[in-house]
Amino acid sequence: MGHMGAGAPQGPQPLPGIAHVVAVGSGKGGVGKTTVAVNLSVSLAKLGYKVGLIDADIYGPNVPTMLGATRQPNVVGDNRIEPVLAHGVKFISIGLISPGDKPLVMRGPMLHQIIRQFLQQVEWGELDFLIVDLPPGTGDVVISLVQTVPLTGAIVVSTGSNVALEDARKALEMFHQVKVDVLGMVENMSQMTLPSGEVIDVFGAGGTERTAAQFGLDFLGSVDLDPTIREGGDKGLPVALAGPESKLAAEFYGVAQRVADKARETASKSEDILEIS
Ligand SMILES: Nc1ncnc2c1ncn2[C@@H]1O[C@H](COP(=O)(O)OP(=O)(O)O)[C@@H](O)[C@H]1O
Ligand SMILES: [Mg+2]
Repeated sequence: MGHMGAGAPQGPQPLPGIAHVVAVGSGKGGVGKTTVAVNLSVSLAKLGYKVGLIDADIYGPNVPTMLGATRQPNVVGDNRIEPVLAHGVKFISIGLISPGDKPLVMRGPMLHQIIRQFLQQVEWGELDFLIVDLPPGTGDVVISLVQTVPLTGAIVVSTGSNVALEDARKALEMFHQVKVDVLGMVENMSQMTLPSGEVIDVFGAGGTERTAAQFGLDFLGSVDLDPTIREGGDKGLPVALAGPESKLAAEFYGVAQRVADKARETASKSEDILEIS
């Protein structure tokens, strides 16, 4: 980046020691972003990667509950924050710092500041993946993120329903506008299998894969609608802990493997571009 002279305003700076920053977004709330972000993180950790997770949903921080860890992070040295370790994943969340049911009321600049602190002031150490669980919508947090660090890419989670996909397309468009590569899409709550073995299509299974194809994007996998996944989230024991041999968890491991492959591919492509220029 030789064009940036000394004293020039700083653009996004890579975080030392962190190979890939990957954001998980959706457009619509409630489609399972946090569930996917948490299970993806645990799967990657179980696959042997070093993984961090930022809960960037400042108004609805669900990661501490879903990872089953709510202790306050330690502050060390020169105002550095130690991430909390849960199930092999280092994470940080505003829910650890301001727990309870009181909502955080704040202005945009504060939000930006928190996202920057989560990226730069946390002792992440060496990471293969820093996953960022985004809030619903298309907004501020993503801008703060891309202004602070270069992202390897984003994953967009949706159900197969038209309304969720309508919002997912907005998220795709937003990532395009801020020049973040979309690594692919995940369909969550795809199908439900009843104890009788009957399969019910609740949200229009297949819709996300079709949308991915329309946008020329990879489809990273689908995850069933299953009460075990919700229970795992509520109990802080994500289903991915069961390992890739468990049928439900296997879907998340498939997504994790594809994300890891895709992240490497995307990163090596952008290195090629830098070499040419
Ligand atoms: N595949 C799934 N099967 C069953 N419940 C799910 C599934 N994915 C998410 N949930 C549940 O749906 C709710 C919303 O999911 P969450 O991950 O919080 O969505 P978001 O982060 O997009 O708002 C949570 O209670 C979660 O446990
Ligand atoms: Mg969420």
